[in-house]
Amino acid sequence: MDFRKQISDEAFDQISQLVQQKIGLNLTKKKKAMVHSRLAKRIRKLGLDSFDEYYEFLNGNDSELIHLYNMLTTNVTKFFREKYHFDFLQEEVFPQIKADKSKKKVRIWSAGCSSGEEVYSLAISLKEFFNLDEWDIKILATDINTEVLELAKRGIYHQRQIQPIPYKLLTKYFKLGQGQNEGLFKVKNELRNLIIFKKLNLNQNESYPIKSRLDFIFCRNVFIYFKKETRNSILDRFHRHLKRGGYLFLGHSESINTAGKLGRKWRLIRQTTYQKIIKDC
Ligand SMILES: C[S@@+](CC[C@H](N)C(=O)[O-])C[C@H]1O[C@@H](n2cnc3c(N)ncnc32)[C@H](O)[C@@H]1O
Repeated sequence: MDFRKQISDEAFDQISQLVQQKIGLNLTKKKKAMVHSRLAKRIRKLGLDSFDEYYEFLNGNDSELIHLYNMLTTNVTKFFREKYHFDFLQEEVFPQIKADKSKKKVRIWSAGCSSGEEVYSLAISLKEFFNLDEWDIKILATDINTEVLELAKRGIYHQRQIQPIPYKLLTKYFKLGQGQNEGLFKVKNELRNLIIFKKLNLNQNESYPIKSRLDFIFCRNVFIYFKKETRNSILDRFHRHLKRGGYLFLGHSESINTAGKLGRKWRLIRQTTYQKIIKDC
């Protein structure tokens, strides 16, 4: 396909409806140029002639759908992003959990973990606070994008990516690459072993495969890509999976309208930090 070939309105509408229905991504008309630039190379590689042909090709083609989701999701992330969340964990959430010595168990979910920076930041924070000989700690890290999930599992980062990590923590939790791997930093197994990585679509019809009640959920900078109905349906599920009094952390530009009906379920505690408030269902 010629790169200059435009995406027709019809093909754009069809692709955006498909993506909306399957994974909840809301591709408004403003995203047309973005969709064009992200898909054009793939269409050419497949030897197809147009976006319309690509839409036909997607029909019932599960493996191509995986490529489509990988191309259309936005995966920007960084270590200790939105530091105030990590401060709140250290100052309030972790001490609260520690005070309840009955279970000595912590269960957390990073939903939309991208390439892993968020979940490794959580693992570092937990390791710094809890004695793992006494505490049973597990973090679930999920994403729909299989490419970033592989990067997260590998846990290897470039020098420019590890900049936000304080030096003391970097030397403690990362192995520095030698020779050919100079400039690369690999997460040590003691962190890696706290995390279970899984592909999971937040917009799936089936229930989420999570058995334990969670102490808190990080779902940051994911809701911005969804419509209100999608967000509300995911919020309901999060609510069910959290413990009584559990916390939900959203991204800097995301919020729950607690002035409305949702105010009976969520209380705003701090900037973009919410607490489950109604009794367990
Ligand atoms: C901008 S990144 C946010 C990463 C990290 N949470 C942070 O705040 O730095 C958004 C992530 O959400 C994922 N995502 C988008 N739609 C999803 C869906 N339906 N199910 C699961 N993950 C999804 C994307 O693949 C992407 O990795």
